[in-house]
Amino acid sequence: MKKDIVARIEQLKKEKNAVVLAHYYVTDEVQAVADFVGDSFYLAKIAKESTAHMIVFCGVSFMGESAKILSPQKKVLMPDMTADCPMAHMVAKGRIEQMREEYEDLAVVCYINSTAELKCQSDVCVTSSNAVKIVKALPNKNIFFIPDKNLGGFVAQQVKDKNIILNDGYCPIHAQISLSQVKAEMQAHPYALVLTHPECEAEILAVSDFIGSTADIIDYANHSDAEEFIICTEDGVEYKLRCDNPHKKFYFPKDRPCCADMKLITVEKILSVMENENNCVEVSGDDCEKALIPLDRMLELAK
Ligand code: 13P
Ligand code: SF4
Repeated sequence: MKKDIVARIEQLKKEKNAVVLAHYYVTDEVQAVADFVGDSFYLAKIAKESTAHMIVFCGVSFMGESAKILSPQKKVLMPDMTADCPMAHMVAKGRIEQMREEYEDLAVVCYINSTAELKCQSDVCVTSSNAVKIVKALPNKNIFFIPDKNLGGFVAQQVKDKNIILNDGYCPIHAQISLSQVKAEMQAHPYALVLTHPECEAEILAVSDFIGSTADIIDYANHSDAEEFIICTEDGVEYKLRCDNPHKKFYFPKDRPCCADMKLITVEKILSVMENENNCVEVSGDDCEKALIPLDRMLELAK
């Protein structure tokens, strides 16, 4: 019974001084059992600041890894170790060294959706909620933005005085959102505002009324006077949007964007890792130290 599972998770949270963190893309029932639900930036901050001994991270591997790097003394458990973000690996080997050789005044700006190995080679991390602010604040003229070409392209649009070099990575879930399907929703709901994640392709951003992280999209819908919204991001955000706005209407493109990796997390798996304390995230001491530098710099510059 799901109710018994949730009750046992609540009991274990107290017994083991544990907190459950969840990204907005996981299933409704996982979000409901979490202590903190948010976008990547919020979750990274909570992972660092929490006084809990144990963090159960309901998300994909780069999120658990970042939590461990920011708080190496905590036990970080992943309900499903196979939940991974394909984009996190999308930088060709040797590409960063090559760019550093080519450009003198270069900052490697690494979207948090990346492996610890990539973070170790980067100057600063960013998330979709702070990338523009952080790139603007950097003293460097040349920026190599990894791995996401779409978020990088969005930043380049906002920061015209820097030379932003894009890498060929992308999120397959957001890339699948097609302009024709968004336009079909716009036609069907002419009063709806289009709220879009910057991982979408440029042609989707171009028809959007607002572009922001998952938390920014939710916040925008919560505070807007509009009653209807077309949401261009992964469909897990619908849970929070509907909880906060029961009377507003939310539409998604016909092929609802759904991240299969995020949906691997279940309440059964949360309970299992909490009971057995397995699926511990490990990052080697050296990598932990190196990857902490760009993550800490992000936390500082995003203030
Ligand atoms: P944010 O929640 O930071 O907007 O990130 C979206 C995402 O794709 C996380 O994997
Ligand atoms: Fe990665 Fe895209 Fe899934 Fe986010 S939605 S975890 S970027 S594959």
